[in-house]
Amino acid sequence: EKGNYRHYMQKEIFEQPTVVAQTLSSYIRPLEQTVALPQMDFDLAGVKRITIVACGTSYYAGMVAKYWFETFARVPVDIDVASEFRYRDPVLEEGGLALFISQSGETADTLAALRHCKEQGQTIAVVVNVPTSSMAREADLLLPTHAGPEIGVASTKAFTCQLAVLAALAAHLALVKGKLSAEEERDIVRHLIEAPAALNAALAHDEDIAAMAHLIAPARDVLYLGRGPDYPLAMEGALKLKEISYIHAEGYASGEMKHGPIALIDEAVPVIVLAPSGPLFEKTVSNMQEVRARGGKVVLISDAEGIEEAGEGCLATIEMPSVHPLIAPLVYAVPVQLLAYHVACAKGTDVDQPRNLAKSVTVE
Ligand code: M6R
Repeated sequence: EKGNYRHYMQKEIFEQPTVVAQTLSSYIRPLEQTVALPQMDFDLAGVKRITIVACGTSYYAGMVAKYWFETFARVPVDIDVASEFRYRDPVLEEGGLALFISQSGETADTLAALRHCKEQGQTIAVVVNVPTSSMAREADLLLPTHAGPEIGVASTKAFTCQLAVLAALAAHLALVKGKLSAEEERDIVRHLIEAPAALNAALAHDEDIAAMAHLIAPARDVLYLGRGPDYPLAMEGALKLKEISYIHAEGYASGEMKHGPIALIDEAVPVIVLAPSGPLFEKTVSNMQEVRARGGKVVLISDAEGIEEAGEGCLATIEMPSVHPLIAPLVYAVPVQLLAYHVACAKGTDVDQPRNLAKSVTVE
């Protein structure tokens, strides 16, 4: 039930600290500060390549995970949307792990890709929210998220729970591959344990975000920019906005702006910039200044330090807690979800049941 919330989506956004903690509790031993994965009957340390396949929001979780698998475990990752993967005759090497990410566990394209990989002898791992789903049944390694039922068509809590599982998997893979010391693993686990509190701190900005929804609601087009792991978050923000507010939105790698999309910039196109402070901050901010120099109206989502440094002259800023870069993608999911939510409410659309969409896409 919705309880005091107006919509399921809103309720599910606010459930994130709880369900991320719930999910993490089955992948982490808090006292030892180590990652604990379910038993597997294959040699994880022997995995040479990971192929990630998913759709929509689950695909963006996979894109974030690619950074983690490559950075921590130094395992090359190939990633594709399921509907394309199947038709490009992918090269699947022996000893490969194929990883499927899905809230429902029933998405037709993802399931067909899973079956294809199985036929090709890949080891099948799945991150799913429905443990009785087809994908869960057909996997060699089942990594459930414990988000609870997600009713809103726009995926929110499933996404952050997927990220929590994928971060734990990346840390474990890095450990068994000898790329992380036990101390470094503990460090990662400590940051993951901080995620629920950081999600709460992000949710505390709900009212500020609601108050600025009227700045975005009249727009016909909106751009989202991010770099590194915030690039998939930019695409996720754009997807949320399109899906429930029907405003055209695109997520771009901030460095790609100057290769074309900057031509779109004028004062009618708000640009949402996701830029936590850290090693990628300066570059993203210089892309943001290029937008501002062309009359673009920028909403900067950053932490106190980032806003202090670059917030002046922005149309609005949204302050996030200062967090370790590992958990930033989970935390920055919150403001883009809330922004889409409040813009949709301002426009009066059917937030939980947007037009033309189904919760589970079981056609190819
Ligand atoms: O159940 P799945 O995670 O496989 O669903 C994949 C997409 O259909 C889904 O994420 C969709 O993009 C959402 N409506 C996005 O909010």
